[in-house]
Amino acid sequence: MSAADGAIDISGGLAAWLESLGGKVLRVDEPLAVEYEATALQHALDVLGRYPPIWVRQPRLADGRMSRFGLVTNLTASREQVCSALGLDDHRRAAAWWAGRQERRIEPVTVPATDAPVRETILQRDEVDLRLLPATVQHRDNPGPYLTAAHATTCDPETGIDNSAIQRCWIKDARRMSWFPYPNSHNARNMRAWHERGEPCPVAFWIGHHPAVSVAAQVKLGYPESHWPAAGGLIGEPVRLTPSLNFDGRLLVPADAEIVIEGLARPGAMAPDGPFAEYTGFLGPVVDAPVCEVLSITHREGAVLHDCGSGLADNLIPDNIAMEGKLFSLARAVSPRLINVHAPAEGRRFLALLQFDGALAGEVRDALAAVLAWRRVKTAVALDSDIDLFDAQQVSWALATRFQWDRDLIRVDDLSTSLLDPSLEPGRKTASKAGLDATLPRHPSTPPVAHPDPEALEKAAALLKELTGMGLADGWPVK
Ligand SMILES: Cc1cc2nc3c(=O)[nH]c(=O)nc-3n(C[C@H](O)[C@H](O)[C@H](O)COP(=O)(O)O)c2cc1C
Repeated sequence: MSAADGAIDISGGLAAWLESLGGKVLRVDEPLAVEYEATALQHALDVLGRYPPIWVRQPRLADGRMSRFGLVTNLTASREQVCSALGLDDHRRAAAWWAGRQERRIEPVTVPATDAPVRETILQRDEVDLRLLPATVQHRDNPGPYLTAAHATTCDPETGIDNSAIQRCWIKDARRMSWFPYPNSHNARNMRAWHERGEPCPVAFWIGHHPAVSVAAQVKLGYPESHWPAAGGLIGEPVRLTPSLNFDGRLLVPADAEIVIEGLARPGAMAPDGPFAEYTGFLGPVVDAPVCEVLSITHREGAVLHDCGSGLADNLIPDNIAMEGKLFSLARAVSPRLINVHAPAEGRRFLALLQFDGALAGEVRDALAAVLAWRRVKTAVALDSDIDLFDAQQVSWALATRFQWDRDLIRVDDLSTSLLDPSLEPGRKTASKAGLDATLPRHPSTPPVAHPDPEALEKAAALLKELTGMGLADGWPVK
């Protein structure tokens, strides 16, 4: 359920949220293989330009058996759906909304395990078999089944402050999986702190929740800061946590999650991991990843496994919305006339569109320079208030007609970036970035935009409605 920009009800978890969407969910009742087939459905929908959550009722495992868990993928592939899950009615306002919410904090509440749906079933020791989970093999050249939306949760051994982040896991056998925290991620930092003490690092992976919690728990934070208060602040209500099965109060996990896997990453236990699809749409390289020895799996009755299509909209949309919030606050700090920011999924986190209303001299360039400093943003485009940031055709029109290379370009070289950018040559660690000011200079000879007559336009729309209602549109040529 979502209320207009207000509090949202996360207590029912993932399955309840899916049920509430009715026909907006693609329910696949026939068996579908976890190897390639679920992800292929996402690709096929992408070609159609449609992004429903996909709920596979009978995922078929590699050995031909049906999993006893359901599988949900494409959960976060639609901006509209993600924003609606967060309680925001209009996805076009996500940047300012996120910028406003990202600093709020609401402390989580801790409930006993007896009140935690995720503890309805407990599997330990010989009962643990990761191969029964409908983990997907997504793309050609992937080495095996991956958990793609598991939020790894660790803590610093000294302070106890925890961290949570989606990090992929490759299921190796019944009780072992590799887990890949980027070396500079906060989880990797926590893990190294345990290993420096000569101790194994406790890890709890929680999988599947109301999408508002899954998305909000991914907020980018400084170190050390727990993600639970930030997630609560973003969604407007506390996240319910419960002590983990093996590590008690040292690691807390979401009580309303679908599945929790707990284990230990021992010092020196490493294995190759990948290749695996990245947000760029390219396969990432084989990396060295810690191996996690699994101690238990707990889950809800009838749990569904949340899978995320790597390199697809499913993977891009939530982070891009969060990025819009971050860029909005950075650019707004130097440009009060900034009115909106959009990071289109097809830009893969390398592209940012900024919109202004009546910017004063220098303001647009200030804002462009500010966002180019942010992580992977490689191209930032400034647009006028009459351009629809969410319409790629209008953005192209603005770039084609309102921009001069000698006057409107800022280039900054050697800024930090993502090494996953496939255009970087071997050994190169920085990017060359550009800001393009495609706002139209206003002077007396600036031509007006050609607009149709409003009354005639209304009539034309009514006429088209009638004609297409007669089934004519199917045969009409497309662009
Ligand atoms: C679908 C998805 C998959 C991700 N996979 C990984 C991963 O395999 N390893 C990783 O370190 N970060 C991955 N990330 C990014 C992390 O969730 C997180 O932002 C990053 O690890 C930094 O976390 P930190 O701010 O706690 O250091 C993924 C994000 C998404 C949305």
